[in-house]
Amino acid sequence: MTARLPISALLLGLAAFVSGLSFNIPTSPPSNSSAQLSAAPVGISLEFFAFPEYIQDVPSTLACLQNMKDLTGTWPPMRIGGTTQDRATYNASSAEAVTYTVASTADAPESLTYGPSFISLAATYAGEVIIGLNRRLDNISNTISAALFAKGRVDNLYSIELGNEPNFYVASDPIAQGEPWTAAADEASQVTWQEAVCGNLSTSDLISAGVYFGTSPMSIVGLTAKEGSANDYVKDYCSHNYPQSSGTYNLAALMGHSEIATQIEPYAAEISAAAAKGKPHIFGETNSATDGGGGISPTFGAGLWILDYVMQTLLLGTDALYFHQGTIGNCQYCWWGRYDMGSPYYGAYFATMALANADQIAPLDSQDTPYAAYAIYKSGTPVRALLYNSDYYTATNGTRTSQTYTLSGLYSSSVTAKRLTALYATSRVDQGENPTVAGQTFANGTCAIEGTESVETVIVSAGKATFTLAASEALLVYI
Ligand SMILES: *[C@@H]1O[C@H](CO)[C@@H](O)[C@H](O)[C@H]1NC(C)=O
Ligand SMILES: *[C@@H]1O[C@H](CO)[C@@H](O)[C@H](O)[C@H]1NC(C)=O
Ligand SMILES: *[C@@H]1O[C@H](CO)[C@@H](O)[C@H](O)[C@H]1NC(C)=O
Ligand SMILES: *[C@@H]1O[C@H](CO)[C@@H](O)[C@H](O)[C@H]1NC(C)=O
Ligand SMILES: *[C@@H]1O[C@H](CO)[C@@H](O)[C@H](O)[C@H]1NC(C)=O
Ligand SMILES: *[C@@H]1O[C@H](CO)[C@@H](O)[C@H](O)[C@H]1NC(C)=O
Repeated sequence: MTARLPISALLLGLAAFVSGLSFNIPTSPPSNSSAQLSAAPVGISLEFFAFPEYIQDVPSTLACLQNMKDLTGTWPPMRIGGTTQDRATYNASSAEAVTYTVASTADAPESLTYGPSFISLAATYAGEVIIGLNRRLDNISNTISAALFAKGRVDNLYSIELGNEPNFYVASDPIAQGEPWTAAADEASQVTWQEAVCGNLSTSDLISAGVYFGTSPMSIVGLTAKEGSANDYVKDYCSHNYPQSSGTYNLAALMGHSEIATQIEPYAAEISAAAAKGKPHIFGETNSATDGGGGISPTFGAGLWILDYVMQTLLLGTDALYFHQGTIGNCQYCWWGRYDMGSPYYGAYFATMALANADQIAPLDSQDTPYAAYAIYKSGTPVRALLYNSDYYTATNGTRTSQTYTLSGLYSSSVTAKRLTALYATSRVDQGENPTVAGQTFANGTCAIEGTESVETVIVSAGKATFTLAASEALLVYI
């Protein structure tokens, strides 16, 4: 016993020394840097039927978005859409924003109507909005009347979707007119609807096209090959991505740095296909897991996933991501609810901090280990470094391991850093394990920033400084 302790202590020390990471921060953006970043790449998607309630009855919605706007100067972009956009019919004479009935408040409506005030409410948001309109019900004149009103009324309109996740349409949906709903059928339908909607609106550059869940059997690669001159009507090409679904829920895999790289890889071709058509790509709806989230979605680890997933998809070339917020009170991955905050918001806020007013980001690591490092550039100069230790740490692990990162290429005598942490990757706000950003939390019900900010200072010696990140932690270094 007495002999084992020093040996294991020695081995531990040795292991820590050997596995310490070193990254040089290039003085200008390296060749694998991102393209120019948009002003607010981290946005939200609000489920269509719940949009008025989110804005009018859930104070955290605008407060949480304002927290992010305060970091960047730009309101996060918002998409209004989802499954219920394809169940919705526009009623130009309705005074109500939205009309539906549900058996339980946990349910989404099977059918709904919405009126002009729904669209006017979208016009009150201070950021850009995407409005998702119906294609599934095959009522093109109805969709055109809503699009006409939106185009005239919503100065902040970024784009309009014509249908949500049409890869899930089936032969019994009205749009299919009794025929099998194939990729070819959808591509032809998208082009026809783009032409009719934009023709009636006398406009171009309006449609968020594709709106596919995943990349198969329908894809942006396939759609762009059929667009022809209708590409002029397209504002952006849009993918939806949920890395996990029932049967595969695994938080360690969700938040793992190299696993994220593998998971998003199929989207590289989608982004390239959009770029080849001269259009941006967006993840117009995304979040951690479908089908209720299997307990992994409300966790801090899902927040760490957001952080690294945002960086990696921006590096792939996407323009913005819209994280979906579903039925109020029945939404595992939501960033906030009526009463409690969600742990994932901490990751979204930290990602926004990292990217605030930046022009480019660059990966310093090769994305094949659990340990991420990014340099963040403004006007060609490194301004921040983002470090992420994606080792999965929970209450059952025992001692929390850590990783050391030595950064070189630093030019000031000391740097400051802000830490994103929580007790465990599994920590949930509703279970009392609040994550922190630089020591601060977001208040339940209001999203107000609470607590005293704690900023770490690290001395730079010969252009180098060393940082320690526990398993399941991230650090933003201001250089
Ligand atoms: C549209 O709204 C008007 C005014 O509320 C209502 O009378 C009418 O029944 C609605 N139409 C449909 C199809 O819901
Ligand atoms: C299509 O929408 C129009 C209103 O824009 C409505 O009058 C008509 O009943 C709708 N058709 C169907 C089949 O629902
Ligand atoms: C307007 O939309 C209708 C479908 O409702 C379509 O048949 C017509 O071609 C469109 N008009 C223009 C100018 O594109
Ligand atoms: C990016 O380039 C740097 C060298 O500048 C390299 O060390 C790193 O592995 C690369 N990462 C990726 C993901 O391409
Ligand atoms: C925590 O335990 C899990 C399950 O055994 C393991 O996969 C993971 O690597 C451990 N994490 C750390 C940081 O040791
Ligand atoms: C939010 O409420 C939960 C209880 O639902 C509580 O455990 C948690 O500590 C609260 N968070 C903050 C930041 O007050």
